[in-house]
Amino acid sequence: MRTALSQAIAEAPADLSATAPRHVAIIMDGNGRWAASRHLPRVAGHREGARAVRRTIEAAMRHGVKWLTIYAFSSENWRRSAGEVLDLTGLLRQYLRTEIAELASNGVRLRFIGDRTRFDPDIQQDLTQAERGTSGNSRLNLTVALSYGARAEILAAARAMGEAVRDGKFDPDALTEEGFAQFLSTDGIPDPDLIIRTSGEQRLSNFLLWQAAYAELAFLDVLWPDFTEAHFAAAMADYSRRERRFGARPA
Ligand code: IPE
Ligand code: IPE
Ligand code: MG
Repeated sequence: MRTALSQAIAEAPADLSATAPRHVAIIMDGNGRWAASRHLPRVAGHREGARAVRRTIEAAMRHGVKWLTIYAFSSENWRRSAGEVLDLTGLLRQYLRTEIAELASNGVRLRFIGDRTRFDPDIQQDLTQAERGTSGNSRLNLTVALSYGARAEILAAARAMGEAVRDGKFDPDALTEEGFAQFLSTDGIPDPDLIIRTSGEQRLSNFLLWQAAYAELAFLDVLWPDFTEAHFAAAMADYSRRERRFGARPA
């Protein structure tokens, strides 16, 4: 069966354009406002948001992006009402059960970052299984941030390092930025080149704080459920015009 995803793969460029970002990360914001503007319950926005995720994965593949990270649920989102948390975890469960097989068969490698121990055991199991079942794939590296908070991630890395030093396995004087990054949950994942946030908010909300050091930022005035391939393409075009300097003298 030719699905939208396999179609996207067929249309992917053979060579990565020199200007395409290697890693795009997205803060998918605005589901609640989308629903409110239609007098619908917030969960309707989250449901529509899941459809936008599907479109975005296809768009990333079509544009030859190899690494895509999406912020689906923050460690602070547990503070929402019990009802909304239940709706969100329910949608996650449903998404994992219905989408993983197709992603797996289309060459997507899945990773999850964040504190997964806060989810129900059946969800934790599905996450582990999805990671194991797709670990041989490399067409698109899709990382989903779930119950993720960058400060907690950095703190956990500092703690792990401290323990390694205490156990005599690590010399603190030998510590480098690359060495520290190996303690983060994103070990093995390149830093994001471009971070997109939808919904008009201009903040990172505890997303990839270490990794975002030199990311280009794009704040789009579209609510996440309305995000389409055209928005993705516009963000790619905008990125291609940016001049990245990394602190060096402009050319
Ligand atoms: C993003 O949409 C989804 C999550 C944070 C889980 P929101 O639910 O934050 O939507 P707004 O920001 O209230 O519109
Ligand atoms: C950030 O959105 C988290 C996700 C998109 C998953 P929030 O809606 O939670 O962020 P704030 O509260 O507006 O900063
Ligand atoms: Mg929000």
